[in-house]
This record gives sequence, structure tokens and C-alpha cells, in this order.
Amino acid sequence: MKKLYIKTYGCQMNFYDSNKISDLLKKTGYALTENSNEADLVVLNTCHIRDKAVEKTYSDLGRIKKNFENTQNKKPIIAVAGCVAQAQGQEIMRRSPWVDIVVGPQSYTALPQLISQVKKLEKKELVNLDFPTIPKFDLLDHNLIEKKVSAFLTIQEGCDKFCSFCVVPYTRGPEFSRSIESILDELKHLIDKGAKEVILLGQNVNAWRYECPNGKKWSFANLIEKIAEFDQILSIRYTTSHPLDMDMDLLKSHKNVEKLMPYLHLPVQSGSNNILKKMNRKHTVNDYIKIIDKARKYRPDIAISSDFIVGFPGETEKDHKATLKLIDEIKFSSSYSFKYSSRPGTPSAALFDQVDESLKKERLSEIQSLLKKHQIKFNENKLNCNLKVLISEKNSKNQLVGKSPYNQTVIINERDKLKIEKSCSIKQKDKLFIGKMKNVNIINAYQNSLEGVFLDNFLES
Ligand code: SAH
Ligand code: SF4
Ligand code: F3S
Repeated sequence: MKKLYIKTYGCQMNFYDSNKISDLLKKTGYALTENSNEADLVVLNTCHIRDKAVEKTYSDLGRIKKNFENTQNKKPIIAVAGCVAQAQGQEIMRRSPWVDIVVGPQSYTALPQLISQVKKLEKKELVNLDFPTIPKFDLLDHNLIEKKVSAFLTIQEGCDKFCSFCVVPYTRGPEFSRSIESILDELKHLIDKGAKEVILLGQNVNAWRYECPNGKKWSFANLIEKIAEFDQILSIRYTTSHPLDMDMDLLKSHKNVEKLMPYLHLPVQSGSNNILKKMNRKHTVNDYIKIIDKARKYRPDIAISSDFIVGFPGETEKDHKATLKLIDEIKFSSSYSFKYSSRPGTPSAALFDQVDESLKKERLSEIQSLLKKHQIKFNENKLNCNLKVLISEKNSKNQLVGKSPYNQTVIINERDKLKIEKSCSIKQKDKLFIGKMKNVNIINAYQNSLEGVFLDNFLES
């Protein structure tokens, strides 16, 4: 069997795509390897969101080249997929002429065909950056899905918002909602493979809406209700949402749909109206606070997380202080924060008042220590609580690992203390837990995880 090495950069949607790419290629006779040195085919599924992510791609391409030159191994076929591919196209081959194939996020279903073209014709420089008329989802074979307790399901792609700093509208194209039939079809395959949790994905996941040919209209809240009807699904999550698409029905679902977890990732980017305006976010700080207030009205314990960009062009000390104030007001349970990275071709790259790199660094560390303080507090608040935890796997330290309703990682060490029948094999024991929603008492809280012990009489469940 030929060997495939695939490396993924960037967001969860890229990870979803990488799974689909490896499914596609397994079908044509490739088996996955973790070692790029022994690969016959290398696929880098890339991210263009910040300069660092792009540079990582090029340094990995350099490393791969060195390797086949130094070891005199046969040169693998090298394909660059994802958002750098879409943004830079042919330029990738100019910078790294040992690349054979460049394929965009909407056209990777063409990979098997492109690979056979490289092999047959020894033809170089195959580029496919199309946005095909048949959505890629309709070309994917869901029979190849792997067994997983917690499964990603992409329902929406692309973005029409054009925040002035962001490349996504250019790399992923316009907003597209996958059809209800296609989503439910994949969901059924996921369930067949043991999925208990589904994480709905989209660049603006809450912009999903769909009208059936018979005129029936689906909102995102309707979709969540529909998925909740499947008995095998115990937990539903979604990411990433945009404040502009946050409708009341969705917020109400957090109260009405028990399986919808009390966790909302809603990026705000900045706590200053002045900066939000320059970012073209189309919402104010107050709009954001109102949404969170409503979310908390329907689900008082909901965990709120966000993304922040520090050092956007023209950001003053006053703007920065306003972001710190918002963080103190909302008390986020977790967050991602980044230094502004100027992206070629985006409107904000042309602004003159770029913030000095050392000032960005200073502000980022101030923001991150405040976010960390709130995250630790949020976690500590769960001490001594009994939480429902979906156990998804056993880690290398033999601990059981799951997620709390609030998206916290929960680690359970105490399995041996339970009265498991001695005759049970390890595999049988694992089956008692993995893929099950368990009552867990939280005995320790850290910055990035919780530790718990089981409360149930496990033999009964
Ligand atoms: N669609 C989502 C997020 C997509 S990108 C939203 O609108 O919120 C993920 C995150 O990357 C963004 O939320 C933003 O915080 C960050 N990001 C995007 N462009 C960036 C840039 N040029 N520099 C730094 N961070 C950026
Ligand atoms: Fe980028 Fe803004 Fe679209 Fe999010 S909403 S993907 S930040 S342009
Ligand atoms: Fe990166 Fe593309 Fe995702 S730019 S964050 S991989 S949509």
C-alpha cells in the first residue's frame, strides 16, 4: 500500500476537510502514515488567516524537500490544499517548485484525479481552485467515515461579512448552506459509526438556513431541533457564530433543547466601538452585550467564549482599555486572542497607522492574563459540582477524557476505585464508559481542565 502523510493547519473546518481528503485517498489505495519521510504522497492542508500560519507551510515544504534530497528517498507527490492554496495559487509553485498539485478548499474532491495525472503524464503544476457548481459535500462518500464519539459535521461554509482584516471571504468564498438532506445523510452515517456528539461547523455556522424545493424553510434552530430527535445523539455543539446572525430562536434553543450544550463561542474581536467600526464588524459593543444578556436569560449558566484581535491599525490605549473592560464585564470561560496580522489584499492592510509590534505584544499579554484569570475562575466555580460528562476516549496515561457541558476537558483518574467486576476485560471496562454520558463529581480545577470522579453505579448504565 502507498503511504499518505497529511498535515492540517488552521480551523476545525480544515480538520474536517482533511478527514474527507484522507477518506478519498484511502479509497485509491493510500494508507495514512505519521511520518512524512516515508510518504509517497504528502498533503498539506493549509491556513492563511495569519502570516505565521503561512510561513509554517513554507518552512514545512522546505523541510520536506531537504528530507527527500538528503535521504535520496524517492520524491513524494506533494499537494498543497486549503486556504493558502486558494489565496496564492500558482505562486506556491514559484516559491516551492517541488510542489506538484495546488488544490482549493472547494475542489479537493479532484485530488485522486490530479494525482493520477501527475503519475501518468509526469506532468507538473496542476492547479485546481474552482468553486464547483456541485457542492463538494455531494461528491463525498460518507461510507468511509471513521468511528468517533464526538464528530465534526460541516453544515455551512464561506463568508459574506468582509471584516476588514480577514482573508476568509476570499479563501472560502461566499456563504453557502449545505442542504438539510445532505446534512442528515452524513449525520446518519456518523451515528452508524458510533457518534454520540455532533459539532456543527461553519465559518459563520449560525448563518445556516435552507429552503427545500417544496418551499419548507429551515432555520439553524430548526436544524438543531431536528438533530436532537435522534436518540443516539446525546450532545450537540456548534462553532463559530457571528453576532449579526444570532437570532432569538437560536438563543431560546439553549433553554428548550436539552441536548444543546450550554456553550457559545461568539467572537467579538474588540471592546471598542471605534475599532469595531474600522474592522467592519457591523455590530457594536452594546449589540454584543445584549446578545450575551439574552443568552444568559434563557440559559443562566451558559459559558461564553470569544476571539480577540489586539493591535488592529489605529488601536489606542483607550481602545485597548475598552477591550479589557468588556472582558471583565462578560467574564469569558475561555478565549482565543491574537496579535493583528496584516493580510495582503485585505482593506486594513492598506491602513497607515499600523501598531508597533512590541506594543501589540504588550497588549496581547495583558489581555491574555485577564482572560486566563476569568478562565481559572470559571473552572474553579465547577469545583464540587456534579456534571454530565460525555466520555470520548482514553488518553496515553490511561485516564478517561471527556467534555463538560461547558466545553471544559474533564479527566477521570479514579476508574480503578470503582467496583468493576474482576472478570471484566480492559476492553469491556472501556465500553462501560467510552461514548457514555456519565455523572461526574469535579474534585480539581485547573486552567485548562477539570478532574472528576464517577458518581454512577456504572454497572447499571
Ligand atoms: N468567522 C469567525 C472567525 C473566523 S477566523 C468570526 O467572524 O468570528 C478566526 C479568528 O481569527 C477570528 O475570529 C479572528 O479573531 C482571527 N483573525 C482573523 N483574521 C486575523 C488577522 N488578520 N490577524 C489576527 N487574527 C485574525
Ligand atoms: Fe472573517 Fe469576519 Fe467572515 Fe469571520 S465574519 S470569517 S472574521 S470576514
Ligand atoms: Fe485558516 Fe482557512 Fe480556516 S484561513 S482559519 S483554514 S477558513
